[in-house]
Amino acid sequence: MADQVVRRLLNGAEIPVLGLGVWQVRDGRECERAVAAALENGYRLIDTAQAYRNEASVGRAIRSSGVPREEIFLTTKFYPGSRDPLAEAERSVERLGTEYVDLYLIHWPQGGPTWAWSGMEKASEAGLAKGIGISNFSAAELQELLKVSQIPPAVNQIQFSPFEYRRALVDACEDAGVIAQAYSPLGTGRHLDNPVVGRIASAVGRTPAQVLIRWAVQKGLSVIPKSTHPERIQENFAVTDFQLDADAISALDALDTTNQTPDALSRSDMWWS
Ligand code: A2P
Repeated sequence: MADQVVRRLLNGAEIPVLGLGVWQVRDGRECERAVAAALENGYRLIDTAQAYRNEASVGRAIRSSGVPREEIFLTTKFYPGSRDPLAEAERSVERLGTEYVDLYLIHWPQGGPTWAWSGMEKASEAGLAKGIGISNFSAAELQELLKVSQIPPAVNQIQFSPFEYRRALVDACEDAGVIAQAYSPLGTGRHLDNPVVGRIASAVGRTPAQVLIRWAVQKGLSVIPKSTHPERIQENFAVTDFQLDADAISALDALDTTNQTPDALSRSDMWWS
């Protein structure tokens, strides 16, 4: 990953700063094309999940890309409606057609933040997952998990954008050495039309999507925008050759609607509780 901008995880591995998320990407050709376009354009991080039901397509696209498996950082997530993270990891790697994933996350803290972790650790010990982590965990849930974990979580993947800044949560991750990773950095597309974002994009000669992704990168996160369009996939990756200055960053910070929350989601968005 020499030409990739990376962050170092607690397990010593490097995670690329930019990746492709395939949430809401249809299984089959649509998913295969998106992953193929990402790998052709230099992405080396692909993020899927058991709940997305597109692991097999992700695996096919990786195998036919010609990019060596060891150059790709592959994430999947344990669906916490299932009982056994180890057994589900075995099924995931089979669907993905690979021997291991680089990162295996608890998708959300359904049933509490700690019950699944020993199974996650078993998946790691069995070599099915090089790294293990969490997603949609609040600062309080992260603290509870840290009290019982033998292997600490490497990553907390969270909904994160200038509008969902969650500053206290990002700080809690940083304090624990946990890399925060941003999903929905474009607000699933909703934030692209915001006038403040548009003004900054015009000023720096970039697109609104690039401004939102760059903001998250400058906050120190790994970021996984989703797109099924090759030209957008390429655009979203081209964010390492410009900087947002302090004024632009504070204007974007001011868009926060979470009041710098330590929570991972608003109460009404916690679909599992
Ligand atoms: P599409 O997949 O049709 O390209 P998020 O990453 O926050 O979940 O946002 C994903 C949404 O934003 C998708 O609807 C995606 O549409 C759209 N999107 C992704 N990248 C861009 C871009 N560069 N320009 C415009 N829309 C984009």
